[in-house]
Amino acid sequence: MLWTSDFRGKTVVVTGASSGIGRETALAFGAVGSRVALLARRRAALESVARDISRHGGEALVLPTDVTASRAVRAAFRAAHAAFGRLDVVVNNAGVLIPAPVTELRAADLRTMLRTASRRSAATARRSSRSSASPRRCAWRSTARRYTSRW
Ligand SMILES: NC(=O)c1ccc[n+]([C@@H]2O[C@H](COP(=O)([O-])OP(=O)(O)OC[C@H]3O[C@@H](n4cnc5c(N)ncnc54)[C@H](OP(=O)(O)O)[C@@H]3O)[C@@H](O)[C@H]2O)c1
Repeated sequence: MLWTSDFRGKTVVVTGASSGIGRETALAFGAVGSRVALLARRRAALESVARDISRHGGEALVLPTDVTASRAVRAAFRAAHAAFGRLDVVVNNAGVLIPAPVTELRAADLRTMLRTASRRSAATARRSSRSSASPRRCAWRSTARRYTSRW
């Protein structure tokens, strides 16, 4: 399977790794032998994901981070780089999705959704390009189809 051979030994940052799509993505990378840095705000949930990865023989690094805070993102990427030596893949997944028609959303909720998406994109993209050995080699697309095509 493409996943198994291509990502063994790769270093991966997953934002929003504490639940949902990010959690499952982190577990999938861990299961094929990637070294995975787990970012999100809830430390306990990240630690639970890390335990699951370790239980299956993988390696995970818990980095509680608010992705809307660029300093926190920078610190997390530095910590991941220091631990792993390089960063190969960034899954820029953290986000807030409130499933309701725009016309029914409270303004504050809409602001949170948009703010999280835009700030996480800017901060993570900046750090992705600065933390990888070769900026063009560090894929940070948000879908498996995009980044599997890199290797
Ligand atoms: N599920 C869908 O149908 C769907 C459809 C379209 C797009 N998406 C997008 O896909 C992504 C994942 O969705 P999901 O369904 O897996 O959602 P989810 O289960 O609610 O997970 C969202 C993740 O983002 C993290 N997060 C939210 N705000 C954050 C912040 N400021 N800093 C750091 N981490 C933050 C959460 O962790 P903490 O709370 O621990 O910080 C959590 O790990 C989101 O970006 C969402 O907008 C999902």
